[in-house]
Amino acid sequence: MSVTMSPESAPTSSAPGTLLDLEAAREKRTTTRSAAAARERTAELEGLIARDPGNYRVLTGDRPTGALHLGHLLGTVANRVRLQDLGVEVFLIVADYQVITDRDDAGDLPATVREVLLDYLAAGLDPQRSTVFTHSAVPALNQLLLPFLSLVTVNELERNPTVKAEAEAAVLRQRRGISGLLLTYPVHQAADILFCHGNLVPVGVDQLPHLEITRTVARRFNQRYAAARPYFPEPDALIAPSTTVLGSDGRRMSKSRGNALELRATEDETAAFVKRAKTDAERTITYEPERRPEIANLLQLGAYFTGSTPEGLAEEVGAAGAGRLKALVTEAVVEGLRPLRARRRELASAGPRYLDEVLARGNARANEIANRTLDDVRGLMGMRY
Ligand code: TRP
Repeated sequence: MSVTMSPESAPTSSAPGTLLDLEAAREKRTTTRSAAAARERTAELEGLIARDPGNYRVLTGDRPTGALHLGHLLGTVANRVRLQDLGVEVFLIVADYQVITDRDDAGDLPATVREVLLDYLAAGLDPQRSTVFTHSAVPALNQLLLPFLSLVTVNELERNPTVKAEAEAAVLRQRRGISGLLLTYPVHQAADILFCHGNLVPVGVDQLPHLEITRTVARRFNQRYAAARPYFPEPDALIAPSTTVLGSDGRRMSKSRGNALELRATEDETAAFVKRAKTDAERTITYEPERRPEIANLLQLGAYFTGSTPEGLAEEVGAAGAGRLKALVTEAVVEGLRPLRARRRELASAGPRYLDEVLARGNARANEIANRTLDDVRGLMGMRY
């Protein structure tokens, strides 16, 4: 198992020297949240949300690098729809500028953005209640990046575990340098979240250090420019309830690994995906996530789509073995995704007009909010002329 490094355990590349570094060293002792603490806080938040959904605004999103897959649905998309249906206001950013953090060719972005939008809508996102927008269409959001960048040190950015991992991948796998945008994208994400005063960010545990940068930016901005009345919220992480979905090769499902099952896949492709999925040499099916991760993954998938539990499903299959398990899982995924895929086909066959309209409305709403925030920020910073 890989251990996610928390910012405080990460090595510091240079001794604290500057004022910002000293400030950071002082803050870190009190503000960094462990995964366990974030889980605890998530349980508490769920209670608060159920009671008063109107107090919360969710901001999250995806990089438009391709159509969404099963990992997206179970990891976050279903949770967003659940929050929306609870009455929480949901903002989804299709982070087009993030696509070019680690590549030169972003592909056909308009087509990819429409695919992502189709997946959102098919999964139950309601454009009447939720807002979908893209980075590049909201100039005021992007301008927030400038004051925000002044609030963090290069040291802090280089120490961020997610940036570190992605920088390593860029250098080792792709043999390219670390772009300035890659180094600074957690601060860009702070702008994504704070422009609309988002106070709830559904993330995986591995994304916690990111959110920590957003919280730092909000806190430092408030201290510096809005001491009397804090302007930005310090957003909370809402840890996703479901576990990591594995791809056909037994590694975490991801588009770039080519091991993913896209939501838009056909039933035949779904069956082929499950058939390819790695299992192990033991005949009897048991639910042991640590010892038998591939079998556990199949059991979790089956359980998710049938509303049973992985343990129950393991018992049901038992000595019938992996072949029987795979047949069950194929059936569960095909049936479970049937309504989503039907809606998706219907929306896709209606052509791009409706999708473009949804996005234009989302972008207009995001611009309205971002313009107001930037104006407030200019005022607070003494830059209104
Ligand atoms: N980095 C996220 C992803 O790749 C997308 C994203 C952009 C995001 N801005 C965000 C997520 C702000 C949460 C909050 O999936």
